[in-house]
Amino acid sequence: MQDLVPDRRELFRYIEDVVRETLGTYGYREIGLPVIESTHLFQRLVGEATDIVEKEMYTFDDRSGDSITLRPEGTAGCARAALGAGMVFNQVQRLWYSGPMFRYERPQKGRYRQFEQIGVECYGMPGPDVDCELLLMLSRVWKALGIDSMVKLELNSIGSTEARGQFKDALVGYLRGFERELDADSQRRLTTNPMRILDSKDERTQAILVDAPSLEDYLDDASVAHFDAIRAVLDRAQVPYIVNRGIVRGLDYYNKTVFEWTTDALGAQGTVCGGGRYDGLIEELGGRPTPGVGFAMGLDRLAMLVETIGTQPEQAVADVYLESFGAAARGEAMILAESIRGREPALRLVVHCGDGKFKAQLKKADASGARVALILGEDEVARGEVGFKHLRRDLPQESVPAGDVVGKLMAALGAEAN
Ligand code: HAM
Repeated sequence: MQDLVPDRRELFRYIEDVVRETLGTYGYREIGLPVIESTHLFQRLVGEATDIVEKEMYTFDDRSGDSITLRPEGTAGCARAALGAGMVFNQVQRLWYSGPMFRYERPQKGRYRQFEQIGVECYGMPGPDVDCELLLMLSRVWKALGIDSMVKLELNSIGSTEARGQFKDALVGYLRGFERELDADSQRRLTTNPMRILDSKDERTQAILVDAPSLEDYLDDASVAHFDAIRAVLDRAQVPYIVNRGIVRGLDYYNKTVFEWTTDALGAQGTVCGGGRYDGLIEELGGRPTPGVGFAMGLDRLAMLVETIGTQPEQAVADVYLESFGAAARGEAMILAESIRGREPALRLVVHCGDGKFKAQLKKADASGARVALILGEDEVARGEVGFKHLRRDLPQESVPAGDVVGKLMAALGAEAN
């Protein structure tokens, strides 16, 4: 787990702002969700035999003995919330959420046990149009962040549950002939989750898979038409993608479209966003059949990517820095600051707290990024004036009547902004 020091937190915030703005222009609304859910929810929806449920969840008994889990992902909780609020039956919803997710994975660069996601979930739209919308929207987000040339879209269709069932049987039938040669994980998955064997990193297993049946040959007509329609729109919109038949995703709820946006710039943990369609999820939760589709992007990895292109959110924390010298002036400075804030609520004003020689306070003012320093010593207080010093322009320090400070400040800052 990592602490987000202010520079890093501000980078995350910058990315969130860009994403949020784009989502808003497509008509998506934010939903707030708890970070803890009942363990059962993930077992049922993400799937008992997935890595996440088998070995990555932070699961505890609470004080009443109920098993609870720190959410490893947001799709299950969002569906539970939307169903519970009566938002899914016969309705169309476009929702997004953000916040921390928790997975007990082996930590390494780009992979954390607490990480941030921005997720999107759509309900009530069965056609390929909304799948396209999500991909086009993501493509726009990457452009807005300036990382579009560094990510690529990998797309696949995993078909209907029935088609996948037939494929699974064929795959297991084929692999049984090589059972002893498979790696240990794959041998186990032969009975628990055979599709995940396709993801095996083991070379021998991969060699065996070369001649295995292919999911593509088992896809149902509706899934093929759905996939073709998405590809046609992406082609027309000139969003590049590659079809990667190896993408099956590590969560059980998907059907038809699945996709990942990946990058080569981060080493091993190169997937910055993943998602797909999950038309059976709401029914699995006890709701009426309701199509769904969504994605989640990992902010930790996106922040690393945005850093590589040198984008930094603004570092200045202040427009104005107020210095004071002597105990009496210090109290006066607090009062002056509040009266300035009352008149100019958007102005970023930092007040020096405590003692400090003139030079030391000026150094702090400079480091804050402020463009003007206001100076209040006992003489100024006695005369009802304030010292006024430009920090980024070579102009002499002036004394200004206290009542004129705000007007002069705004004129000076406005003039510099132009
Ligand atoms: P996911 O592929 O498990 O999908 O996670 C989405 C993204 O979260 C990944 O592409 C990655 O950027 C980030 N991520 C995952 N694990 C970590 C980690 N340990 N450290 C840092 N970043 C990580 C889901 O979570 C689905 N709920 C997405 C979805 C929404 N599908 C439909 N709707």
